[in-house]
Amino acid sequence: MSLPTDHPLVSGKTATSPMVQALNGIAQSTPPIWFMRQAGRSLPEYREVRKGIGMLDSCLRPEIASEITLQPVRRHKVDAAVFFSDIVIPLKLAGVEVEIVPGVGPVLNSPVRTRSDFQKLDTLNEDSLKPIADAVRLCVAELGKTPLLGFGGAPFTLASYLIEGRPSKELPTCHTMMTTDPELWSDILQWCANITAEFLRTQINAGASAIQLFDSWAGRLTPTQYETYAMPHAKKVFQLIEDLPVPRIAFGVGTKKILKQMKSTGATVMGISNDISLEEAVKILGTNTPIQGNLDPELLLGNWEDIESAADQIIREGRSAKSHIFNLGHGVVPETDPYLLTKLVEHVHAAL
Ligand code: CP3
Repeated sequence: MSLPTDHPLVSGKTATSPMVQALNGIAQSTPPIWFMRQAGRSLPEYREVRKGIGMLDSCLRPEIASEITLQPVRRHKVDAAVFFSDIVIPLKLAGVEVEIVPGVGPVLNSPVRTRSDFQKLDTLNEDSLKPIADAVRLCVAELGKTPLLGFGGAPFTLASYLIEGRPSKELPTCHTMMTTDPELWSDILQWCANITAEFLRTQINAGASAIQLFDSWAGRLTPTQYETYAMPHAKKVFQLIEDLPVPRIAFGVGTKKILKQMKSTGATVMGISNDISLEEAVKILGTNTPIQGNLDPELLLGNWEDIESAADQIIREGRSAKSHIFNLGHGVVPETDPYLLTKLVEHVHAAL
C-alpha cells in the first residue's frame, strides 16, 4: 500500500509547504510554527462550539471536529493544523468506556488489569473509524496548502491510562505489571500499538501530511525501563504504518535521557520538551535530525518581552539542527491569552 493518489502530499498541495519541507529536513529561512493543543480552551470560539457537548463526543462528530481543527489556523495563521481528537479516542472506538473529566483527564470505568480484562478488548475496523476519516476529509478540503498533522498516543502513554484508569504521576499499577507479569504488559501494549496504528493509518489515508506520536509520559521511565517496556511497542506503531511515507514526529515530556532511543523507534523528527535547550538536544541527536520545539508554555502566561527573547534564542539554537519547526515544549495552557499566540506566530515568521 502507499498514499492515495489524491493525498495532498502526492497531488502536490502540501509537499512544498514550509512545514512539510522542514519536517523533511530542509531548513527554512524562518522556522514554520504550530502549537500542541492549539485547538482548545484558550480559544473563545472553541468554548462556544463545545457548549453542551462532551469532549470525546465532539471528537466523533465530523463537522465539529473539523471546525475546531480549523479555528486556530484561521486565527493564528500557523503553518500546520493539528487534528482535533484525543489519544484515547481509539480506546473509545474499540468499546472501552472512557470519558474526559474536565480538569482531570481521561477516566475509565473498568481499567484493564488482568488477563481476563485484556481478553475482553475488541479491535478497530473501518466502520468504527469512519467518524475520524470523515472529519479529516472535511478539514483537509478546507485547509488547501496548509498541511494537517495527524497524531496518536504511543503504546506506553496510552496503556498508562488503560491500566491505571485515570491520570497518575507514579503509575503504580503499570510498574507492578511490567515486572510481575511482563507477558500481560507486553500483550496490552501490542494491542495499544495496533489500535494507535489504525487510528494513524485512517488519518493519513484521509489526508494527514505528517503524524506525531505522543509518548507524553515516557520521560517518567529510566532509560533501561524505556528500552525494555515501552520502546519495542512504539517501534511497532511506526512499523505498522511503514507503507505510508509521511514524516513522523516523536514527542514526550522530560525525555532528555531517552531522546536517542526515542529517535531509534523510527521517528524522522524529534519533538523536544522544555527540560533541555535546543542546543543540548542537537548535541544529543547530532546535526542530522530535524527537531521541533520548545518554548516553555508557561512563559505565555507572562509578558511579551520574556516570550520574545526566549523565542529568539530558540530560533537561534534551532539553526544548528538539520531543520527546525517552532513549537512549545508541551501543550498550550488553557489560560493563555490567544493574542499572544498570534503575536508569537507573527514574530517567528518575521525572524531574521
Ligand atoms: O490542538 C491539539 O494539539 C490537538 C488536540 C489534542 C487533544 N488531545 C485535545 C484535547 C491532542 C494532540 C491531544 C493528545 C493528548 N490527550 C495527549 C498527548 C498530548 C499531551 O498533552 O501530552 C494526552 C496525554 C491526552 C489525554 C488528555 N486529554 C488529557 C490529559 C486531557 C486534559 C484534561 C483536562 O481537562 O485538563 C485531555 C482533554 C483534552 N484533549 C482537551 C483537548 C482540547 C481539553 C478538553 C476540554 O476542552 O475540556
